[in-house]
Amino acid sequence: MYGMIHKAIRDMVKSNHGEETWAKILKESGADDADFLSLRSYDDSIAYSLVGACSSVLGAPAEDCLEEFGRYWVLVTASQDYGDLMRSYGKDSFGLLEKLNEMHERISSTFTGYKPPNFTVDRLDDSSCKLHYRSIRKGLTPFVIGLVHGLGEFYNENVTINLESTAEENGGEYSVYNLTRSARSTEAG
Ligand code: HEM
Repeated sequence: MYGMIHKAIRDMVKSNHGEETWAKILKESGADDADFLSLRSYDDSIAYSLVGACSSVLGAPAEDCLEEFGRYWVLVTASQDYGDLMRSYGKDSFGLLEKLNEMHERISSTFTGYKPPNFTVDRLDDSSCKLHYRSIRKGLTPFVIGLVHGLGEFYNENVTINLESTAEENGGEYSVYNLTRSARSTEAG
């Protein structure tokens, strides 16, 4: 995966758990400082080793680390560097999810050789939908849960997401989630 993913994992660990914890995780993962160049594509095994090392050093399931990372990715990494891009593709969480393939594709003009996931949205009504996630990779289903929580906060909505099913497909993963949302009250009281 792209180095910007590794870099975001590093930023998250440093800011949420401190420099010392990061040093332990880096050692445990076997990655080195050359593996954090944003615009270089690396073998997926590095990202998986980083998540595995977070899990063992923090003593938390890998699924929880991926969820925490998904939230961080949207609320810190993407908000800082791509906030305007996200708002131009979607004015709310469901709207952005519907345009996510286009947005990942647009980015691919600068990121050659990357393999983003595929999302489709079935709208049930204005406040609920089914989200279909397909990846060539396995194990990232919990990452999507964190990403969607992050999107809810980014757009100031209360979003719930529940996993309905997950299955292997073409050597990768296909997961279906049920989402609901409501606007957050912005007025005090
Ligand atoms: C503007 C903000 C975003 C940027 C710049 C971005 C960019 C990227 C990049 C570079 C990758 C690595 C792909 C690779 O190296 O093959 C990736 C992966 C991924 N992105 Fe995004 N992304 C953004 C927002 C989002 C959002 C909002 C979601 C979901 C709600 C999302 C879902 C994913 C997932 C699940 C992956 C993991 C790859 C996989 O599932 O196979 N991204 N993205």
